[in-house]
Amino acid sequence: MKINCNYLNLDENYLFQKVNERISSFRIKNKKSKIINLGIGDVKFPLPMSVIESCVKSSYEMASRDTFRGYGPNGGYSFLKEKIQEDYNSKGIHVELDEIFISDGAKSDMSNILDIFSRDNVCLIPDPVYPVYLDTNIMDGRKIIFLNASEENNFLPEPYTELKADIIYICSPNNPTGAVYSKLQLKKWVDFANNRNAVILFDSAYESFISEEELPKSIFEIEGSNSCAIEFKSFSKAAGFTGMRCGYTIIFKELIRENISLNSLWDRRHSTKFNGVPYIIQRAAEASLSSKGKEDYKNILLYYKENARIISDVLADISIEFFGGKNSPYIWLKCPNKMKSWDFFDYLLENLNIVGTPGSGFGKNGEYYFRLSCFGEREEILAASKKLKDMPF
Ligand code: MLT
Repeated sequence: MKINCNYLNLDENYLFQKVNERISSFRIKNKKSKIINLGIGDVKFPLPMSVIESCVKSSYEMASRDTFRGYGPNGGYSFLKEKIQEDYNSKGIHVELDEIFISDGAKSDMSNILDIFSRDNVCLIPDPVYPVYLDTNIMDGRKIIFLNASEENNFLPEPYTELKADIIYICSPNNPTGAVYSKLQLKKWVDFANNRNAVILFDSAYESFISEEELPKSIFEIEGSNSCAIEFKSFSKAAGFTGMRCGYTIIFKELIRENISLNSLWDRRHSTKFNGVPYIIQRAAEASLSSKGKEDYKNILLYYKENARIISDVLADISIEFFGGKNSPYIWLKCPNKMKSWDFFDYLLENLNIVGTPGSGFGKNGEYYFRLSCFGEREEILAASKKLKDMPF
């Protein structure tokens, strides 16, 4: 028996596991301190009644012989896919129901999609980046090249002629920097991918936070993208489903590589290795896209956006340079006094009892930066803001 040795090339722990370990040891030493956790982007707002009522109703359906459901259809129930289709239609994008695959979240799909690609492909990952893209490619032993995202390019790197890559990761709005590609910039990526026969894996988990109308919420708003991109979406941040687990992936049938439709490969993978998201959860996701659900979520999003504004204002007041927060739930700040990311993490935890995420956890270009999540309760956000304001750096 041989293990997958590629795992030995990973950091010992996943980023957020490392953060949790530091919090746990701090808690053991300082039992009384109340910690404000603005680290992992986990939602705090409870689910609206429109969603809960749908969960209750569908749970009761499971108790009756006439309405009980066993295995669901592969790829998800059409009642949910139709709602997703309507949502895309409203952006001027037509997607067929068999081009939508319901799953338990974008993180799983972005990892699992690698199953349909040869390990010989070269993958292109921006730095800094959501660590899952990197770790899952290390697990597969795939060759990885990095693309620098820095202040010089507004954290939005663009393709250039000499670049040679087959699988391209783009996250917009970006985790961790909060930067968002314009349509013009995305068009450059789409042209690059089509010319090279590459595939773009587009993570749009944070699109609901986009405030500026002209910014694209989907890669499929860009001409030519149907034949080179796969889009991953999540109900986690948009509908507060981090604990419910639901997301979906869109692959157009015209995305063909080596004369094979990637839609059919993914369908084959999905039906073999996945038995679907629970009926009750799919009903809940459907309710989040109903007109009542949309109204409820508009207010929840405004709440998080106001959190981001409060933190941004304080950082501006205390002259800490920052990015993001406007079209994203994340604020990406420069650690004061040229502190390294993990030093600043310890400093904040020990002195202010505030947790954030060290920028270096997202890649080497994240060193000297730090990420704050705006998903906290308002009370916590106000308390954290006050502490930051009162604290001399
Ligand atoms: C984050 O904090 O980066 C995200 O919440 C992680 C995730 O979505 O898996």
